[in-house]
Amino acid sequence: NMAGKISKDELEELREAFGKIDLDGNGSICDYELHELFKEANLPLPGYKVREIIQKLDRNKDNKISFDEFLSVSHELKSSDIAKSFRKAINRKEGILAIGGTSTQSSEGTQHSFSEEERYAFVNWLNTALENDPDCKHALPMDPNSDSLFKAMGDGIVLCKMINLSVPDTIDERTINKKKLTPFTIQENLNLALNSASAIGCHVVNIGALDLREGKPHLVLGLLWQIIKIGLFADIELSRNEALAALLRDGETLEDLMKLSPEELLLRWANFHLENAGWQKINNFSSDIKVQTRCRSLFQDSRAYFHLLNQISPKGTEEDQPRIDISMAGFSEKDDLKRAENMLQQADRLGCRQFVTPADVVAGNPKLNLAFVANLFNKYPSLTKPEGEDIDWGLLEGETREERTFRNWMNSLGVNPHVNHLYGDLADALVILQLYEKIKVPVDWTNKVNKPPYPKIGTNMKKLENCNYAVELGKTTAKFSLVGIGGQDLNDGNATLTLALVWQLMRRYTLNVLEDLGDGQKANDDIIVKWVNTTLSEAGKTTKISSFKDKEISTSLPVVDLIDAIQPGSISYDLVKTGSLSAEDKLENAKYAVSMARKIGARVYALPDDLVEVKPKMVMTVFACLMGRGMKRA
Ligand SMILES: *[C@@H]1O[C@H](CO)[C@@H](O)[C@H](O)[C@H]1NC(C)=O
Ligand SMILES: *[C@@H]1O[C@H](CO)[C@@H](O)[C@H](O)[C@H]1NC(C)=O
Ligand SMILES: *[C@@H]1O[C@H](CO)[C@@H](O)[C@H](O)[C@H]1NC(C)=O
Ligand SMILES: *[C@@H]1O[C@H](CO)[C@@H](O)[C@H](O)[C@H]1NC(C)=O
Repeated sequence: NMAGKISKDELEELREAFGKIDLDGNGSICDYELHELFKEANLPLPGYKVREIIQKLDRNKDNKISFDEFLSVSHELKSSDIAKSFRKAINRKEGILAIGGTSTQSSEGTQHSFSEEERYAFVNWLNTALENDPDCKHALPMDPNSDSLFKAMGDGIVLCKMINLSVPDTIDERTINKKKLTPFTIQENLNLALNSASAIGCHVVNIGALDLREGKPHLVLGLLWQIIKIGLFADIELSRNEALAALLRDGETLEDLMKLSPEELLLRWANFHLENAGWQKINNFSSDIKVQTRCRSLFQDSRAYFHLLNQISPKGTEEDQPRIDISMAGFSEKDDLKRAENMLQQADRLGCRQFVTPADVVAGNPKLNLAFVANLFNKYPSLTKPEGEDIDWGLLEGETREERTFRNWMNSLGVNPHVNHLYGDLADALVILQLYEKIKVPVDWTNKVNKPPYPKIGTNMKKLENCNYAVELGKTTAKFSLVGIGGQDLNDGNATLTLALVWQLMRRYTLNVLEDLGDGQKANDDIIVKWVNTTLSEAGKTTKISSFKDKEISTSLPVVDLIDAIQPGSISYDLVKTGSLSAEDKLENAKYAVSMARKIGARVYALPDDLVEVKPKMVMTVFACLMGRGMKRA
């Protein structure tokens, strides 16, 4: 272990350099990565020099260099020639550490630029959102014009807070390491953040803890946007906000409205208010035109925004909301930028000057304008739930916890399109077919799958064919139990039957992770239960489970003990409630257990309530993920 012999500053510098060289973030560097970096640092070392350095560094001759090997060179070879070229290569003035700017390189060698507008917008949003959080004082407020955002993400604290803000209660506050951070406890925070982000449906497959620690701009911004968007969109849904039914058009049912994506609902909402204002409305919206593009053209000159603000501003008719009159004085300003600034000053009076600058409005930055509109909706929806009429409110059922977990799981794997509504969005089976690929069931995309855009006539037939193929693959290749399930059921969105297939996909996905680790032996429930029992007893724990239905699981104690068995000392037992537990105690334990599992590196999708209520399916995934984690360690 070299770390003890090197000064702290030097260690930091080397760590930073290592992170920059390790382009794909896999924890070791190879020769092409070093080559690339030397090139970028304007240090055109001849190939043989690079190879020489690599040979010296690579002490165990596996053609890869770990961080420890990387450290040894600066220590052991201090005076040698090689060490000198190496130090020069890292040098802060002209070497690797001098590389910065607004682009980073990926493993494919492609240039990743990032949007400074996004950086500016997200920093301001974070500064406001976490303004009063005592745990963020070390990082906030950040300067929106600098790269402080990327540094601030490095210890995982701000990120954990943002996730919890977007989906409240996702992260148990007590599990975040806040004081005296070390590389290890930082790694834990980042694990917690990434696994929690995944659990709320962020696609984090290509992001690792090291990327965050290094603050790779395009990856940090990409993740932040996903987290922020999930928070902004959370309430743009009929079951959360029944007043959205005011957006129903003639001849539409609640069901039709429920099928719309949050982006589509948002556009409708804006149009609804614009129409009331007698302003030009977009009425030829068709789903194959990107909503974001629409938002842009609609708002670019700020005039529609003026009208929207004027429509939604509080009129003083509700208690505790003072009247705010929007000034339209800036509406006829000739200059686009000035008009946008005038408009934003009015938005500011509503507390909604967020996400966009005048330049972003004029340029029509789609992401940021979407965020601006979503924030307006959240603060001032200004819709009234329609009364009386022939609306069948019975149809309006919120998403179940299980449905949400399945959806988050799919989205975290990056399926396309994003799944907003479990049944509607699976009706053409394209997402299901992508999930088959994730469990290594090959899909014949060329010959067997109909892809959108579907023809105007016979659309549903095309979708149904996909569904039939999805069921066939499940029966033949995946060997799922699909008795009584036909393509038509998926196409119809039959909840019970769709869930039956989706669960088998998720179960297989979870078990595959275990097979990847083990000796090829097929994992099943019994093997997992046995492993849990053995691991618990070997660690001297008294808890055990008889199955995934074991009532003891509702205390979360077996889970907590198992985590402590896998990573000894990780559990603070003073936080764990024991003895005769109230419902509240159980929930506290479960929240702690789920966050701790994620913190030690298990990608758990299940929710605390699943443990409390001992939902066998979700309980199985928790133990399977922990087993995967435990075996990796062994
Ligand atoms: C997470 O959210 C819950 C509920 O909003 C809150 O009580 C808790 O303090 C939050 N924790 C963090 C880490 O922000
Ligand atoms: C659609 O609406 C936009 C603006 O509302 C208008 O400019 C355009 O001509 C319309 N297109 C069609 C095909 O009607
Ligand atoms: C879904 O399928 C099951 C089994 O065939 C059936 O009993 C149920 O009625 C169906 N549900 C709906 C809403 O059609
Ligand atoms: C696990 O332990 C319980 C309780 O001792 C026991 O009933 C069960 O058979 C064990 N299960 C396995 C698979 O070892």
